[in-house]
Amino acid sequence: MSFRGVTKVFPRGIRALADFCLDIADGEFLVIVGPSGCGKSTTLRMLAGIEEPTSGRVFIGDTDVTGLDPGDRDVAMVFQNYALYPHMTVFDNMAFALRMRGESRAEIDRRVSEAAGILGMEGLLGRRPRDLSGGERQRVAVGRAIVRKPAAFLFDEPLSNLDAKLRLQMRSELARLHARLGATMIYVTHDQAEAMTLGDRIVVLRDGVVQQVAEPLALYERPVNAFVAGFIGTPAMNMFRVRCRSGAIEPLEAAADLGRADLPDGEYIMGVRPEDVSVGGAGIPASVELVETLGNEKIIYLATPGGLQFVARCSPSFGARQGDAVTVGLPAGKAHFFDQSGERIARDA
Ligand SMILES: Nc1ncnc2c1ncn2[C@@H]1O[C@H](COP(=O)(O)OP(=O)(O)O)[C@@H](O)[C@H]1O
Ligand SMILES: [Mg+2]
Repeated sequence: MSFRGVTKVFPRGIRALADFCLDIADGEFLVIVGPSGCGKSTTLRMLAGIEEPTSGRVFIGDTDVTGLDPGDRDVAMVFQNYALYPHMTVFDNMAFALRMRGESRAEIDRRVSEAAGILGMEGLLGRRPRDLSGGERQRVAVGRAIVRKPAAFLFDEPLSNLDAKLRLQMRSELARLHARLGATMIYVTHDQAEAMTLGDRIVVLRDGVVQQVAEPLALYERPVNAFVAGFIGTPAMNMFRVRCRSGAIEPLEAAADLGRADLPDGEYIMGVRPEDVSVGGAGIPASVELVETLGNEKIIYLATPGGLQFVARCSPSFGARQGDAVTVGLPAGKAHFFDQSGERIARDA
């Protein structure tokens, strides 16, 4: 599947996607992630054929599908709001597309019960959507896609309407489903944790422009710019505007000694992941503003007397309390540096 230079401009000049180029491998789980309004749904809808590109071509397999109707593309889309038929049973919801396609009754029965088996909802086939929980409705929506055996599954924020616990459960179910079916899945979300856990590869989109396409760990370890660095990871990467003079790093907004880096003199954005901040030991003096105890870790919010603020991820046994005076290390060796426009400085050979 591929996008070749796809641009979408809506009336009144709203550009939802700019010159999008991407090849998606067969069987890949590709996640498109970005803030609300960045063009994720539009991208997916152009793959489904619900929206037409302003320019560029869309391919499914080797076929140019750019002008084809949704029904003539072998894809199945799962929406955030499920879009079930309220007056139909679960069985009929799942059977609908197959009936429209003129499949035999035996084939429909076979496919629906197979999908119900995969999703563990054999017992729900006679119910109507209003008698289902949110998670069950979501499963029906997925089941409706499975029965069609599409070349690709398109998911548009399918878990957004679920509560936190169910979201995690459905997330792992989707990962298992992908492993079991081996199908190509394109999954759109604003949630970076979903992107990181589900994606073979992740596309980060901002204002319709691709920022980076990479595997999850590469995205985390080598974000190409300050936007990606700040978007991927929670708590977010600490960012400081700094000046580098003869190798010494000084924050612009507060007095502190942030160590040394092998950089030409100039101004940069320095980013340090919360887990790379060391609390205790050698470093700059800071006070603990807030401690969040999460069981498996503690998130500690810190401030220096000079007004520098940052977040550290510590072990749960770390005994800091609000108001404590501590010392903090921001190791320049683990820091990410970006130029003033936000582009990553390539320091690593
Ligand atoms: N039918 C439409 N008409 C005009 N503008 C639209 C339409 N659909 C989406 N947009 C605009 O295109 C941009 C991208 O929208 P969308 O793809 O829905 O973003 P996302 O799914 O990432 O939240 C937004 O600015 C949105 O307002
Ligand atoms: Mg959307």
